[in-house]
Amino acid sequence: MTSNGPSKGPARPVGVNHLVLNVRDIEASHRFYTEILGFESVVEVDMGTEMRFYRSGPGHHHDIALAQVKDPADQPPVPDRYRVSARRAGVNHIAVAYPDRESFLQMLHHLQDNEVPIALRGNHGMTHSAYIMDPDGNGIEVLYELPADVWEGDLPKAMMYFENLPKEGPGMLEDRTDVPVFAAEAGTGA
Ligand SMILES: [Fe+2]
Repeated sequence: MTSNGPSKGPARPVGVNHLVLNVRDIEASHRFYTEILGFESVVEVDMGTEMRFYRSGPGHHHDIALAQVKDPADQPPVPDRYRVSARRAGVNHIAVAYPDRESFLQMLHHLQDNEVPIALRGNHGMTHSAYIMDPDGNGIEVLYELPADVWEGDLPKAMMYFENLPKEGPGMLEDRTDVPVFAAEAGTGA
Protein backbone atom coordinates (compact mmCIF):
# COMPACT_ATOMS: atom_id res chain seq x y z
CA MET A 1 0.00 0.00 0.00
CA THR A 2 1.36 3.41 -0.92
CA SER A 3 0.92 6.61 1.04
CA ASN A 4 0.90 9.01 -1.89
CA GLY A 5 -2.69 10.03 -1.40
CA PRO A 6 -5.83 8.66 -2.97
CA SER A 7 -5.65 6.87 -6.29
CA LYS A 8 -6.51 8.98 -9.32
CA GLY A 9 -8.17 5.96 -10.85
CA PRO A 10 -6.93 4.22 -13.95
CA ALA A 11 -4.68 5.96 -16.44
CA ARG A 12 -5.99 6.23 -19.97
CA PRO A 13 -4.67 3.41 -22.18
CA VAL A 14 -3.21 4.21 -25.59
CA GLY A 15 -4.80 1.12 -27.10
CA VAL A 16 -4.27 -2.61 -27.34
CA ASN A 17 -0.57 -3.23 -27.81
CA HIS A 18 -0.46 -6.83 -28.99
CA LEU A 19 -2.33 -10.07 -29.00
CA VAL A 20 -1.05 -13.63 -28.49
CA LEU A 21 -3.02 -16.49 -30.00
CA ASN A 22 -2.72 -20.16 -29.10
CA VAL A 23 -2.87 -22.02 -32.41
CA ARG A 24 -3.38 -25.62 -33.56
CA ASP A 25 -0.94 -25.49 -36.46
CA ILE A 26 1.68 -22.77 -36.26
CA GLU A 27 2.75 -23.28 -39.90
CA ALA A 28 -0.80 -22.78 -41.19
CA SER A 29 -1.29 -19.75 -38.93
CA HIS A 30 2.12 -18.36 -39.97
CA ARG A 31 1.06 -18.51 -43.61
CA PHE A 32 -2.29 -16.87 -42.82
CA TYR A 33 -0.82 -13.97 -40.81
CA THR A 34 2.02 -13.33 -43.27
CA GLU A 35 0.80 -14.30 -46.76
CA ILE A 36 -2.90 -13.48 -46.33
CA LEU A 37 -2.88 -10.59 -43.84
CA GLY A 38 0.57 -9.20 -44.66
CA PHE A 39 2.24 -9.15 -41.24
CA GLU A 40 6.05 -9.22 -41.09
CA SER A 41 7.70 -12.09 -39.23
CA VAL A 42 9.98 -10.77 -36.44
CA VAL A 43 11.34 -13.73 -34.49
CA GLU A 44 10.69 -17.40 -33.76
CA VAL A 45 11.52 -18.87 -30.36
CA ASP A 46 11.00 -22.12 -28.51
CA MET A 47 10.77 -21.71 -24.74
CA GLY A 48 9.09 -25.05 -24.20
CA THR A 49 6.30 -23.51 -26.26
CA GLU A 50 6.99 -22.69 -29.89
CA MET A 51 6.20 -19.01 -30.43
CA ARG A 52 6.39 -16.65 -33.40
CA PHE A 53 6.07 -12.88 -33.35
CA TYR A 54 4.76 -10.58 -36.08
CA ARG A 55 4.58 -6.87 -36.62
CA SER A 56 2.70 -4.53 -38.91
CA GLY A 57 5.93 -2.69 -39.73
CA PRO A 58 8.65 -0.33 -38.50
CA GLY A 59 7.92 1.38 -35.20
CA HIS A 60 6.15 -1.69 -33.83
CA HIS A 61 7.93 -4.58 -32.10
CA HIS A 62 5.02 -7.01 -32.36
CA ASP A 63 1.31 -6.75 -32.95
CA ILE A 64 0.48 -10.44 -32.92
CA ALA A 65 2.23 -13.57 -31.65
CA LEU A 66 1.36 -17.21 -32.16
CA ALA A 67 1.91 -20.03 -29.67
CA GLN A 68 1.71 -23.65 -30.76
CA VAL A 69 -0.62 -25.64 -28.48
CA LYS A 70 0.82 -28.83 -27.01
CA ASP A 71 -1.97 -31.11 -28.16
CA PRO A 72 -3.64 -29.93 -31.38
CA ALA A 73 -5.85 -33.04 -31.51
CA ASP A 74 -7.40 -32.09 -28.18
CA GLN A 75 -8.79 -28.76 -29.45
CA PRO A 76 -12.45 -28.05 -30.16
CA PRO A 77 -13.37 -28.28 -33.85
CA VAL A 78 -12.78 -25.26 -36.10
CA PRO A 79 -16.10 -23.78 -37.27
CA ASP A 80 -16.78 -24.05 -41.00
CA ARG A 81 -16.90 -20.28 -41.28
CA TYR A 82 -16.71 -17.20 -39.08
CA ARG A 83 -20.08 -16.08 -37.76
CA VAL A 84 -20.46 -12.62 -36.32
CA SER A 85 -23.13 -13.91 -33.92
CA ALA A 86 -21.53 -15.19 -30.71
CA ARG A 87 -21.21 -18.98 -30.64
CA ARG A 88 -18.47 -19.62 -28.12
CA ALA A 89 -16.94 -17.79 -25.19
CA GLY A 90 -13.75 -15.85 -25.90
CA VAL A 91 -12.59 -13.56 -28.67
CA ASN A 92 -15.24 -12.74 -31.27
CA HIS A 93 -12.94 -11.09 -33.78
CA ILE A 94 -9.63 -9.30 -34.14
CA ALA A 95 -9.66 -6.14 -36.23
CA VAL A 96 -6.60 -5.61 -38.43
CA ALA A 97 -6.38 -2.06 -39.80
CA TYR A 98 -4.84 -1.16 -43.16
CA PRO A 99 -3.61 2.40 -43.59
CA ASP A 100 -5.89 3.75 -46.29
CA ARG A 101 -8.57 3.04 -48.89
CA GLU A 102 -6.02 1.92 -51.51
CA SER A 103 -4.46 -0.69 -49.24
CA PHE A 104 -7.93 -1.89 -48.21
CA LEU A 105 -8.94 -2.31 -51.86
CA GLN A 106 -5.67 -4.18 -52.44
CA MET A 107 -6.56 -6.47 -49.53
CA LEU A 108 -10.04 -7.17 -50.92
CA HIS A 109 -8.48 -8.21 -54.24
CA HIS A 110 -5.89 -10.28 -52.40
CA LEU A 111 -8.55 -12.09 -50.32
CA GLN A 112 -10.59 -12.79 -53.44
CA ASP A 113 -7.53 -14.00 -55.41
CA ASN A 114 -6.70 -16.38 -52.55
CA GLU A 115 -10.32 -17.58 -52.31
CA VAL A 116 -10.55 -16.64 -48.64
CA PRO A 117 -14.24 -16.98 -47.70
CA ILE A 118 -15.80 -13.65 -46.72
CA ALA A 119 -18.26 -14.00 -43.83
CA LEU A 120 -19.44 -10.40 -44.00
CA ARG A 121 -18.51 -7.40 -46.09
CA GLY A 122 -19.82 -3.96 -45.40
CA ASN A 123 -19.40 -0.40 -44.25
CA HIS A 124 -19.73 0.83 -40.70
CA GLY A 125 -19.89 4.53 -40.00
CA MET A 126 -16.24 4.51 -38.87
CA THR A 127 -14.71 1.70 -40.92
CA HIS A 128 -15.13 -0.19 -44.16
CA SER A 129 -14.70 -3.85 -43.33
CA ALA A 130 -14.53 -7.46 -44.46
CA TYR A 131 -14.78 -10.33 -41.97
CA ILE A 132 -12.86 -13.55 -42.46
CA MET A 133 -11.61 -16.42 -40.27
CA ASP A 134 -8.09 -17.48 -39.32
CA PRO A 135 -7.09 -21.19 -39.34
CA ASP A 136 -8.24 -21.61 -35.73
CA GLY A 137 -11.66 -20.09 -36.29
CA ASN A 138 -10.82 -16.68 -34.84
CA GLY A 139 -12.78 -13.94 -36.56
CA ILE A 140 -10.61 -11.39 -38.37
CA GLU A 141 -11.92 -8.00 -39.46
CA VAL A 142 -9.92 -6.44 -42.29
CA LEU A 143 -10.62 -2.72 -42.29
CA TYR A 144 -9.59 0.81 -42.99
CA GLU A 145 -10.73 3.64 -40.82
CA LEU A 146 -12.57 6.69 -42.07
CA PRO A 147 -11.39 10.12 -40.85
CA ALA A 148 -12.56 10.90 -37.30
CA ASP A 149 -14.51 13.97 -38.46
CA VAL A 150 -16.87 11.62 -40.29
CA TRP A 151 -17.88 9.65 -37.18
CA GLU A 152 -16.88 11.50 -34.04
CA GLY A 153 -19.93 13.81 -34.02
CA ASP A 154 -22.26 10.90 -33.22
CA LEU A 155 -20.14 7.87 -32.46
CA PRO A 156 -22.94 5.53 -31.26
CA LYS A 157 -24.91 6.19 -34.44
CA ALA A 158 -21.83 5.72 -36.61
CA MET A 159 -21.08 2.42 -34.88
CA MET A 160 -24.62 1.12 -35.29
CA TYR A 161 -24.68 2.05 -38.98
CA PHE A 162 -24.01 -0.83 -41.36
CA GLU A 163 -24.29 -1.03 -45.12
CA ASN A 164 -24.19 -4.65 -46.22
CA LEU A 165 -22.17 -5.33 -49.38
CA PRO A 166 -21.64 -8.41 -51.58
CA LYS A 167 -19.26 -11.07 -50.22
CA GLU A 168 -18.04 -12.15 -53.65
CA GLY A 169 -17.79 -11.03 -57.25
CA PRO A 170 -17.05 -7.51 -58.45
CA GLY A 171 -19.45 -5.98 -55.88
CA MET A 172 -17.22 -7.15 -53.04
CA LEU A 173 -14.36 -5.08 -54.47
CA GLU A 174 -16.29 -1.82 -54.64
CA ASP A 175 -15.75 0.85 -52.02
CA ARG A 176 -17.79 4.01 -51.95
CA THR A 177 -16.23 7.35 -51.08
CA ASP A 178 -19.51 9.24 -50.56
CA VAL A 179 -19.75 8.10 -46.95
CA PRO A 180 -22.38 9.33 -44.48
CA VAL A 181 -21.26 11.96 -41.97
CA PHE A 182 -22.48 11.47 -38.41
CA ALA A 183 -22.86 14.97 -37.06
CA ALA A 184 -23.56 16.04 -33.49
CA GLU A 185 -27.01 17.49 -34.19
CA ALA A 186 -29.75 15.25 -35.55
CA GLY A 187 -30.66 15.89 -39.14
CA THR A 188 -27.34 17.38 -40.18
CA GLY A 189 -25.84 14.09 -41.35
CA ALA A 190 -25.11 13.95 -45.05
FE1 LIG B 1 -15.03 -5.00 -35.26
